[in-house]
Amino acid sequence: MKLEVTKAVVPVAGLGTRFLPATKVIPKEMLTVVDRPTIQYIVEEVVASGIKEIVLVTASGKSAIEDHFDYSFELETFLAQKGKLDLLREVRHISRLIDVVSVRQKEPLGLGHAVKVTEPVVGDQPFVVVLGDDLVESEVPCVYQMLQVFGRFEESVVAVQRVPAEETHRYGIVEGEEVAEGVFKVTRLIEKPAPGTTDSNLAIIGRYVLHPHIYSCLSRTLPGVGGEIQLTDALEIMRRERGLYAYVFQGNRYDAGDKFGYLQATVNFALDHPELGARFREYLKELLNDG
Ligand code: UTP
Repeated sequence: MKLEVTKAVVPVAGLGTRFLPATKVIPKEMLTVVDRPTIQYIVEEVVASGIKEIVLVTASGKSAIEDHFDYSFELETFLAQKGKLDLLREVRHISRLIDVVSVRQKEPLGLGHAVKVTEPVVGDQPFVVVLGDDLVESEVPCVYQMLQVFGRFEESVVAVQRVPAEETHRYGIVEGEEVAEGVFKVTRLIEKPAPGTTDSNLAIIGRYVLHPHIYSCLSRTLPGVGGEIQLTDALEIMRRERGLYAYVFQGNRYDAGDKFGYLQATVNFALDHPELGARFREYLKELLNDG
């Protein structure tokens, strides 16, 4: 029987401490990149990949995210009365994009724990996990690319990108054998390896397609790095018990939960924006020539 993927889990329950003070009140997933909040890019990627059910893992102080995808009767009525039909269309488009179910993570016990709390909603079917602050700019949506790999190998897939050797200690790193172009069968997973402990530069980023066996793996995962339940540790159990693939996706990824990554995302998305891109490119040229 073919395993169908219909749900995407989007964890947004983290505290966003790297982006303080901006994130004291506003969730980092609601920070704007050019003209829309980060989380909207994530949801648009998921929808463009053919998935319409989103399970948000939220926490207190994050209700703005749910509200962003909800109907806003007052705002829609106001825009309709004023004849601002373009804006009305835009606002309606967001609220009709997806069906959202929210699950609360009562304490930020780690990404693995955030995924674990979705078990009652997701149940016994494979699902996608997309981190709420990890943006990928690509021609073919990254989640769609991964679903093709999952469809072919029928086991869990993590998205990876090649990073410089001096940066591997900041990521979960996989080692593996290449079994198809850009697809590796994972032989080892190392969370934030100390320099010199691996030759691999394949770093895990925030996109996963997971077999439901991950819930069993998570229930046997003890707190790891930072005292948190790490998804990477559960993936190591998955690798041993079922197998795991890593896929070097096509596209550029930005960690929008980090101040520098957020700036990179803003500049690159602005340069590619259909209305603002050309003007912004000219502006940057002038700025750099003046400098
Ligand atoms: P991060 O480590 O990037 O998020 O987790 P964080 O903890 O909010 O960030 P800092 O380090 O304090 O700045 C990756 C993703 O996992 C979610 C986060 O919301 C983010 O999307 N997450 C993390 C949870 O949902 N729950 C957690 O307990 C931890």
